[in-house]
Amino acid sequence: MQVIILKSAEEIGDYAADIILRDVARGSLNVLGVATGSSPLPVYAALERRWVPALSGLSAFALDEYVGLPYEHPESYHAVIHREVTERLRLDPANVHVPDGNAADLEQAALDYEKQITAAGGVDLQILGIGGSGHIGFNEPTSSLASRTRIKTLTPATREDNARFFPSIDDVPMHCMTQGLGTILDARKVVLVAQGTQKANAIARSVEGPVSSMCPGSALQLHPDAILLLDEEAASELTLREYYDFVAANRPDWQR
Ligand code: F6R
Repeated sequence: MQVIILKSAEEIGDYAADIILRDVARGSLNVLGVATGSSPLPVYAALERRWVPALSGLSAFALDEYVGLPYEHPESYHAVIHREVTERLRLDPANVHVPDGNAADLEQAALDYEKQITAAGGVDLQILGIGGSGHIGFNEPTSSLASRTRIKTLTPATREDNARFFPSIDDVPMHCMTQGLGTILDARKVVLVAQGTQKANAIARSVEGPVSSMCPGSALQLHPDAILLLDEEAASELTLREYYDFVAANRPDWQR
């Protein structure tokens, strides 16, 4: 796990964009895993600013979607991904996939989503945010570390966090369809971005705590190529804070 502490959300966005643009240029990134929420917005902004035609060739798979929210609702992840990713990165909408939270058969739709990811060759680079509970995707605490795309019930705390996007908490759906932790761990590279003190505890537990379903982000300790881009606040509860800076300052040339 690489822990990289940066000065601002804008720096985080640029750093993530560097990784993505480099992998696209090398030809090792064809399928991008995308997240919604506030944390990855600086990444999409940086990619929009530094757009290159090769970005249009990417396929994308979103992590999750609310169940029962109409596709055209502005806060459905179909709509958010279209607005923040498809349009800004100028992707072909036919190549952008979001779990179908309105399917008549939700279980089948979840299985089909896994098949679509496999058929596309798997996710090359997954962008992640993290919730205050430590959730990644909408894998709330006690999610199986081996879970695949399925229906989950959001915790009251997550619904409260996401109420800022809705008129009231009662409008936040209770259920979602989310890629599982096993699905996320199958991505070849993972870039998690986190900003703010409200993420500090989840980050400390994910990086330095035991691997536990009680903190789904800790599953990333099992991933061979996970990069965490944090601001000072999100890094503030890390015990080995100084070591991460030391590693960054002394990175060998071949690893830069
Ligand atoms: C969104 C997702 C969630 C968010 C998390 C953090 O697709 O999967 O795990 O990344 O809830 O949300 P923000 O970034 O809004 O704090």
